[in-house]
Amino acid sequence: MKNSSQITTRINDQIIEIAGDKAFMPLGNFLRNSEGLTGTKIVCAEGDCGACTVLLATGTDSSGKLEFKSVNSCILPLYLVDGAQVITVEGIGKMEGMKVDLSEVQKKMIDNNGAQCGYCTPGFICAMAGAVESCKSAGTPMTEKKAKNYLTGNLCRCTGYQPIIDAMMSVDLGKAEFLKERYHNAEWIGKMKSIKKTSVEMKSLERSLFLPATLKEALKIKSQELDVRLVAGSTDLGVVVNKGKLETPKAMALYHIEELGSISHDAGHIIVGATVTLTQFEEYVENHYPEMSRLLHIFASPQIKNQGTLIGNVVNASPIADTIPFLMVSDAIVVIQNESGTREVVLKDFYLGYKKLDIAPDEIVTTIKIPILSQQEVTRLYKVSMRKDLDISAVTFAARVILDDSNKMTSVKIALGGVAATVVRLTDIEKALTGHDFTLKAFEDAAATLDQYIKPLSDLRASSAYRMLVSKNYFTKFAKEIIDQIGGGK
Ligand SMILES: Cc1cc2nc3c(=O)[nH]c(=O)nc-3n(C[C@H](O)[C@H](O)[C@H](O)COP(=O)(O)OP(=O)(O)OC[C@H]3O[C@@H](n4cnc5c(N)ncnc54)[C@H](O)[C@@H]3O)c2cc1C
Ligand code: FES
Ligand code: FES
Repeated sequence: MKNSSQITTRINDQIIEIAGDKAFMPLGNFLRNSEGLTGTKIVCAEGDCGACTVLLATGTDSSGKLEFKSVNSCILPLYLVDGAQVITVEGIGKMEGMKVDLSEVQKKMIDNNGAQCGYCTPGFICAMAGAVESCKSAGTPMTEKKAKNYLTGNLCRCTGYQPIIDAMMSVDLGKAEFLKERYHNAEWIGKMKSIKKTSVEMKSLERSLFLPATLKEALKIKSQELDVRLVAGSTDLGVVVNKGKLETPKAMALYHIEELGSISHDAGHIIVGATVTLTQFEEYVENHYPEMSRLLHIFASPQIKNQGTLIGNVVNASPIADTIPFLMVSDAIVVIQNESGTREVVLKDFYLGYKKLDIAPDEIVTTIKIPILSQQEVTRLYKVSMRKDLDISAVTFAARVILDDSNKMTSVKIALGGVAATVVRLTDIEKALTGHDFTLKAFEDAAATLDQYIKPLSDLRASSAYRMLVSKNYFTKFAKEIIDQIGGGK
């Protein structure tokens, strides 16, 4: 296996090589401070406002062209763009000397008065260019729903959103330049592929970076460097690092390892690799687990989902992580590997306490296996947060029930998040409900016993009493929705 001691990326038209500790810099800071690309703005530095949005292509689509997605450059360490193509706001329009040729999205932003102070505008332009790429690639029109969704991750404090949405809606997709065509360069794409097959190892007095190209190599590094920090999309880690609450002097990212970047399935499971992003997962589950797809629609923003991974969400182990309740009621299996072998842990048993996991320092989570749902199952996932989009949950709820032909519950799985140190399965309530007819009363009675099993905390997001009330109400909501679905109205 080839080895490199530098990372290589292409920013707009320029190929850039970076060696040493600089590779740990956030991409946004590098663009502004080292490359003079100051169109990219840094405001919150925690993935929330979108001012730092750039487009990133880590690979190609089925036609061999670069596939661009919007990401937040403030929380993305440079070492995560080895072998990738970046487009900044400077690369969306064209500049020749003093002559500026604005892109279609930029023109529409002006025509619709979409900018006042203009500080958020470069981020919006990149998010809009990402939306255009996506619609043109899929051959689908821009709808208002899509426009709003693509702009969820961008905040504007002075213009108001309607002119920006109007600008997005008025973009003529036929006229808008296809960035994947403009930036297509067969030589660079060939180089991207060979970079991905090359392991990177960089060590200085202060820092070590590992980008192994094979799983074997990754497991060896983890057995030798027990304190090395695994980094997936950096959407959790990047925020804590930027806040100065964590340092990652030794980091290892797995995205060069091809086998960990895909979703596959066997007869009973969907198998999701460690570097599969939440966007890839969302697209895949649309047909397999529509409830999960619905919930992912209100998970963070496109920028975060294009970068963050499912396994990052699971290992980060937040009690309010949005994917965990679903995975818990699905009896998902965490596949963990070290140099000596592989073991599988049911997700419910993976969490030992607040951010305490059943994983040893030499181990890596390589995949997660999600059982395929059967025909007789009914599932619902709920999340309550202070606002609908781009907000962290106060309470999450998942229920999965198998019914027989007479609507008797033969299996019941219920999980709650935001009410304890980890997401919890309510196994006593599950047992009490199993064998009963599916009725509203059965769930109301179950909700009445909830005080025995959970003692939610009060914090900034919600009070203990509110969390308890919402949890109980979710039992009723679930029962009513399912009765409407299966009929009977018991
Ligand atoms: C603005 C914003 C909005 C967000 N909104 C939501 C939301 O709505 N819902 C929600 O649930 N979360 C949300 N998040 C949190 C975050 O995006 C998710 O938790 C995401 O899934 C984390 O994935 P990642 O790949 O970025 O993880 P990283 O930050 O790279 O890593 C997270 C943890 O996992 C560990 N890790 C990563 N890969 C492995 C591996 N293979 N083996 C062992 N350990 C590993 C890392 O060491 C780290 O401890 C939000 C974050 C931001 C910044
Ligand atoms: S600066 Fe706010 S998301 Fe990056
Ligand atoms: S135009 Fe001022 S923040 Fe959006």
